[in-house]
Amino acid sequence: MIGIIGGTGIYEIVTMGDEIDKKVLKTPYGNSPEISIFKLHGKKVAFMSRHFKGHSKPPHMINYRANVYAMKKLGVDRIIATNAVGSLEREVEPGAFVIPNDFIDFTKLRNGTFYDNRTVHIDVTDPYCSELRNIISSSGKVVNGGIYVCTEGPRFETPAEIQMFRMLGGTVVGMTGLPEAVLARELEICYASISTVSNYAASISPTNLTIDEVFEIMDTKKHDLLKLMDTAISKMAVERSCHCMGALKGAEI
Ligand code: HPA
Repeated sequence: MIGIIGGTGIYEIVTMGDEIDKKVLKTPYGNSPEISIFKLHGKKVAFMSRHFKGHSKPPHMINYRANVYAMKKLGVDRIIATNAVGSLEREVEPGAFVIPNDFIDFTKLRNGTFYDNRTVHIDVTDPYCSELRNIISSSGKVVNGGIYVCTEGPRFETPAEIQMFRMLGGTVVGMTGLPEAVLARELEICYASISTVSNYAASISPTNLTIDEVFEIMDTKKHDLLKLMDTAISKMAVERSCHCMGALKGAEI
């Protein structure tokens, strides 16, 4: 099964296919958001909204472990995530879709692993599934590759922070990409993000940031985003042939 974890502006996606089922899953970490299961291009797809309906959960309050665990429990082996991000580079304009190939994690307060009682050091040399990234990148107009910087939020960044992220080589900055990507790898699920640029980051933007501009761009790009995901799902093979499915091999003491 293919999983979609929808971010800001993507709360409903069942219009993409014929809905089969809707369920909330119980996990050891708490309940998942409502998951819609539908069929698209002959494949089963499970969709959840990371922020819940109406965007009721801010980034630092999201139960990332429950969400990823619920996907695994459903039989999901590949996740396409969508994230709203600010751009750290002038050439990467609002409205662009960035498919990150690496990240820098500046989160502080999140549960970042499933393995509290086993010693597992998961390898993230290639932190996003390259097979899934390539499929998405060949499915529409995107920026193929980039470094996703994840902050704790929920505030936006200071000019000094943005300057630092630029010096570190960051391409985009967001609040929801981590630890989701790592949790998926820990459960041997392929994971890639479509990061939609909703604004230039603080101090690169000529004006102060507002959530209204973020929502406005996400809304205008929603149709293109759904189309990109639809094409990518149509191209996904039944079997995967990447390293993600063996991620735990050699990772545990
Ligand atoms: N910073 C952090 N998260 C974001 C931004 C931003 O500028 N835009 C959308 N999500």
